[in-house]
Amino acid sequence: MNRSCLCSILVTTALICSAYFIGNAYIDEELKEKLLRWEITDKMHNVTNKIQNTTDEMHNVTDKIQKVADKMQNATSPTCENLNKPLGSEALPQGIIVKTSNLETQHLWDYRQDKKGNPNRAMSLLAMAVGIKQKELVNKVIQKFPSRDFVVMLFHYDGVVEDWKQYPWNEHAIHVSVMNQTKWWFAKRFLHPDIVAEYEYIFLWDEDLGVAHFNPQRYLSIVKEEGLEISQPALDTTKTKVHYPITARHNNLKVHRRMYKDKGSVRCDDHSTDPPCVGWVEMMAPVFSRSAWRCSWYMIQNDLIHAWGLDKQLGYCAQGDRKINVGVVDAEYIFHYGLTTLGVVKTASSSSGNETKPKSRTLVKWIIEQE
Ligand SMILES: *[C@@H]1O[C@H](CO)[C@@H](O)[C@H](O)[C@H]1NC(C)=O
Ligand SMILES: *[C@@H]1O[C@H](CO)[C@@H](O)[C@H](O)[C@H]1NC(C)=O
Ligand SMILES: *[C@@H]1O[C@H](CO)[C@@H](O)[C@H](O)[C@H]1NC(C)=O
Ligand SMILES: *[C@@H]1O[C@H](CO)[C@@H](O)[C@H](O)[C@H]1NC(C)=O
Ligand SMILES: *[C@@H]1O[C@H](CO)[C@@H](O)[C@H](O)[C@H]1NC(C)=O
Ligand SMILES: *[C@@H]1O[C@H](CO)[C@@H](O)[C@H](O)[C@H]1NC(C)=O
Repeated sequence: MNRSCLCSILVTTALICSAYFIGNAYIDEELKEKLLRWEITDKMHNVTNKIQNTTDEMHNVTDKIQKVADKMQNATSPTCENLNKPLGSEALPQGIIVKTSNLETQHLWDYRQDKKGNPNRAMSLLAMAVGIKQKELVNKVIQKFPSRDFVVMLFHYDGVVEDWKQYPWNEHAIHVSVMNQTKWWFAKRFLHPDIVAEYEYIFLWDEDLGVAHFNPQRYLSIVKEEGLEISQPALDTTKTKVHYPITARHNNLKVHRRMYKDKGSVRCDDHSTDPPCVGWVEMMAPVFSRSAWRCSWYMIQNDLIHAWGLDKQLGYCAQGDRKINVGVVDAEYIFHYGLTTLGVVKTASSSSGNETKPKSRTLVKWIIEQE
């Protein structure tokens, strides 16, 4: 082997070695870079993870603070929590209290049929004390009140319930039968404000009314437009005797709220502020708004028979100024036949023929002994 050969081998080896080292260094560089990237990604993951965990923790802490605040709120104001709960229901959680009811029937097997028509529709209630002898008149009244807008409730004071079956509306009506009781007795017992809270207006009517010129929907639209909380349809003066001028129909008016009188002990003019001039209606066909009824119900005494005198006190329940919120609707009017039956408010009111103002504004006991 000569020197040149050895030399070339050395050079080759050196070349190979350097190539190897250079390549190796290059690869190492790449590898390191890769590793670095991984590490960074890993760290970022860890950081993201930590941020996530921190956010979670903060949420948990916020939740905890909220819970403590709630508990403190509940603990410091137990009365506040129970403020809107009816008496006796304090132990119940707010969510399961049902405060009011209605008179609607429930379908036993088909829930979809429960609500007639539009479930959001505001329903009103027609309640009448009736006897079978007046069934023709009553039928005419009820036919005017379509079932999609009105629930009908009949108080049978003669115990006869079966004989109404001939009328198509009969099976949808609510029947309550108690012997020899008047409209006010029934109303106090069966029209508690919480039971009838869903009804926008309550018609508490006698059975001896003629409705040929009366349309309840038009009536209610007038009542809403005029803001009447307590009202009655005007009485036709041509065929029926009108006991109180305030309820007599004015042919040319839509509604009126006062009467005028320039003779006798009581004068009524534009400046009068009290019944009998203004602020009341009779008790044969009153129509109450929901809130007016809630108030009026409390005025009905349990032994009240004919509501004598109640009419003049209605102003308390006018939800504001009785001179404005109590009125008579002339555009939709009725006939009053003045029959003497139990279902009918006796028109011989305490103020009949005696229109002096009540001596005291306090609520009096209205039952008249000589009934
Ligand atoms: C990421 O977190 C894991 C476990 O929490 C840990 O073992 C790893 O070393 C962390 N990585 C870096 C780059 O900090
Ligand atoms: C984040 O929380 C999870 C579970 O709660 C845990 O496994 C993980 O190690 C946590 N990560 C960090 C960076 O604290
Ligand atoms: C937050 O609360 C939930 C449930 O209370 C729990 O599973 C989770 O581990 C909590 N997270 C932290 C970061 O404390
Ligand atoms: C506080 O009272 C409210 C309303 O009654 C109830 O929903 C809530 O669960 C109560 N909170 C606590 C922490 O007891
Ligand atoms: C109801 O009144 C009638 C007539 O006044 C009377 O004959 C009847 O006995 C009374 N019934 C009851 C249950 O009071
Ligand atoms: C009206 O009632 C008052 C007091 O009760 C009485 O003094 C007066 O005589 C009565 N008037 C009439 C017309 O009955």
